[in-house]
Amino acid sequence: MADIEVLEFDVLIIGAGGAGLRAAVEASSRGMKTGLVCKSLLGKAHTVMAEGGMAAAMGNVWSEDNWKVHFRDTMRGGKMLNNWRMAQLHAQESPERVHELEEWGALFDRTKDGLISQRDFGGHRYARLAHVGDRTGLEMIRTLQQHAVHQGIDVFQECTINRLLQSEDGSMSGAVGYWRESGKSIVFRSKAVVLATGGLGKIWSITSNSWEGTGDGHALALYAGAEAIDMEFVQFHPTGMVWPPSVKGILVTEGVRGDGGTLRNSSANRFMFNYIPSMFASETADTEAEADRWYGDKTVRRTPDLLPRDEVARAINAEVKAGRGSPHGGVFLDIASRRDSEYIQRRLPSMYHQFMQLAGVDITKESMEVGPTAHYAMGGVRVDPETAATTVPGLFAAGEVAGGMHGSNRLGGNSLSDLVVFGRRAGIGSSEYAQKIEQLPGIDQSEIDTRIAEMHKPFSDEGSENPYSIHRELQETMQKNVGIIRTETEMKTALEDIQSLRGRYNSVGIEGNIQYNPGWHMALDLEHMLTVAEAVTRAALERKESRGGHTRDDFPETSAEFGKVNVVVKLNESGVQVSQDQLPAMPEELQMLFEEN
Ligand code: FUM
Repeated sequence: MADIEVLEFDVLIIGAGGAGLRAAVEASSRGMKTGLVCKSLLGKAHTVMAEGGMAAAMGNVWSEDNWKVHFRDTMRGGKMLNNWRMAQLHAQESPERVHELEEWGALFDRTKDGLISQRDFGGHRYARLAHVGDRTGLEMIRTLQQHAVHQGIDVFQECTINRLLQSEDGSMSGAVGYWRESGKSIVFRSKAVVLATGGLGKIWSITSNSWEGTGDGHALALYAGAEAIDMEFVQFHPTGMVWPPSVKGILVTEGVRGDGGTLRNSSANRFMFNYIPSMFASETADTEAEADRWYGDKTVRRTPDLLPRDEVARAINAEVKAGRGSPHGGVFLDIASRRDSEYIQRRLPSMYHQFMQLAGVDITKESMEVGPTAHYAMGGVRVDPETAATTVPGLFAAGEVAGGMHGSNRLGGNSLSDLVVFGRRAGIGSSEYAQKIEQLPGIDQSEIDTRIAEMHKPFSDEGSENPYSIHRELQETMQKNVGIIRTETEMKTALEDIQSLRGRYNSVGIEGNIQYNPGWHMALDLEHMLTVAEAVTRAALERKESRGGHTRDDFPETSAEFGKVNVVVKLNESGVQVSQDQLPAMPEELQMLFEEN
């Protein structure tokens, strides 16, 4: 390894969004030599796409709010498939994490009394999202980044990890990857590794995710022998831009509806009143008059525009399918009728500029056209709720790459709080693990040489397949066959397509040099995308019911039996394997919360 850069850390963190940064801050504050690797530039992460806010039961706007109500909302939003302990820790610890961010410099919007303001969001009983206009994720990243770099963390930007390294006993020993600019290989030796790589939205063609969302962490964990759960549950955020085509999928924050925006179809009907599921009927307004009062009066029932995201995305999908959509295949989102221009521009500045500049639409006067966009993976690497440890010794995971917290559907705003609650816990868990290991685990040079040769394989003369074409075809089949509404026949078609694309992947060829070569980077990411696409599809075939983000036309009901199990994904020599495992039982004192109201 004479000419390969080798660096040594106690804790190596892969991914520099909210979870990775928070884990890094924690590990380094505990005296760990901490390395933070990010594929993109520091500060650019999908965290910024959680625009509307960070859910935490602080009770600043509605004093009735508390962690128990937040816990209950989260579990019900996830259709009770969430890991109850993760949901409990999340609800209990989020307020402290908001205050911590404020202490570290985050400039949250304020109430008239000078408290941190909280806004309404889907599925939350009370206005609960601490926010910074509609740029909350950006403020979180800015704050954590400032804090992290001043703590002496080593940051490696534009550096992509391609494989985790393991000792003979399977425990973590580091990771191998490459610099995107020079193409040179790099090896990290480390006692513990934290995955904080975010999601996998780029396996669909309409997505809010940017180029980084290629499921790297999910795939790296599976290659290393870790288990993933709930991979079938993917959140299609109800409101992405649908026009012009170049911006299709870009997020339109739920904050628009939180602040009073309403969804309408081509006849200007508020169609959400026709899609109130029985589970939420007792708490959802069924007249426009009651829904409109709800914004200032929490004694009345919530507007159906703010039902959980899975419900709203399905409703929009149904309206469009029934021919009641907007001209470009979405529905209308109108805030101009309820709020004045000053309010909209103050509360939703990014949305105002986004629509004005990208679509030529003035949202203070006109409706937006919106439709579902692949936004978030509820499924992910199985972790221990207390420590974020995966099933592989020394490997930890936090944030979107981890599974369990959100069950079958995530409530908006719960991701930012998830990132810092479990990012911190992963920082503690990995540090405590690393502290027990005296010497850096050894690494196997032949394993590294083989991996580097594999990474360089697309440059050999044999390949003729174009990675961009394979990616586009993967996105097309996932969009068409493993989207919002699913059937066995369509998913089997997707599986056949994935198998055939995998065959073609073996013949990918790249022209040009190893120095900044986006085609090569795509080729390497594509291997991960094919793996996670197969994991999502096989898990979705296994779950023969409809629940949360997973709707099957051939099994339209929610099944009591499937309500007790996680679908578990593992990888072995024959490929992606699925099985079922019992959900951990919720203690009685928490179960009682669901009987109270
Ligand atoms: O709509 C939004 O602002 C997204 C928030 C989230 O995904 O949590």
